[in-house]
Amino acid sequence: MSVLLEARDLRKSFRRADGTVEVLRGVDFRLDPGQTAAITGNSGSGKSTLLNILGGLDTATSGEVLVDGIPLAVDDRDARVKWRAEGVGFVFQFHFLLPDFTALENLLVPVRSRGDVTPADRERALAFLDHMGLADRASHLPGELSGGEQQRVAVARAFMNRPALVLADEPFGNLDAANGARLGDLLMTLHRQEGVGLVLVTHDEHLAERAARRWHLADGRLQPGDGGGA
Ligand SMILES: Nc1ncnc2c1ncn2[C@@H]1O[C@H](COP(=O)(O)OP(=O)(O)OP(=O)(O)O)[C@@H](O)[C@H]1O
Ligand SMILES: [Mg+2]
Repeated sequence: MSVLLEARDLRKSFRRADGTVEVLRGVDFRLDPGQTAAITGNSGSGKSTLLNILGGLDTATSGEVLVDGIPLAVDDRDARVKWRAEGVGFVFQFHFLLPDFTALENLLVPVRSRGDVTPADRERALAFLDHMGLADRASHLPGELSGGEQQRVAVARAFMNRPALVLADEPFGNLDAANGARLGDLLMTLHRQEGVGLVLVTHDEHLAERAARRWHLADGRLQPGDGGGA
């Protein structure tokens, strides 16, 4: 079976004037196409660092990331840029919506960065807003949306470009439990509907339980979580 994403012996250190911080110390990870994985871990354990490397936003100090079996070489900036622009959708803890763009326009940003926006793209964006319960909020600016609504736009945006993989870093960390659970449902539905691989960093046990694989990041390594990691 093909593997969508694989990490082999990833290590990451941050060098600073006052010393070196070793964050990742040999992370091995794999995700099949369309599979879900949840990563938990203490604050500062390196979860965001790992997601950034998997998504091509950052590079490892050593080790390999393979996409569809092909190494994402550290010195091949073009391949990394292509992977993060076309292969990956990101959801961050804080939504990073563009404040001067409406909800609909924000959904179309990743499409625009690849080329012209077609009527089919607009239809897809409107269908996503509808799915998110935001059909009547398409022309609202982020400042005219609630925090939960903004996060719903950010989740939908991650799927717009039909990525192979969505990386979500504490996507509901700033929402209350009820809103977080609701957005968790919407995220899982979109993931299934679109057949997209999903890596979810979360401290929410209920959300983590819904992933096929669970991992715990500690001491710079990924260990199988409560789901057995299998
Ligand atoms: N650019 C950097 N330079 C130096 N140290 C860094 C840098 N980025 C991250 N770190 C350190 O690496 C460690 C891991 O950070 P990271 O953001 O990956 O943690 P995290 O698991 O996502 O934490 P949280 O749950 O709080 O978001 C932290 O100790 C942090 O201080
Ligand atoms: Mg983090």
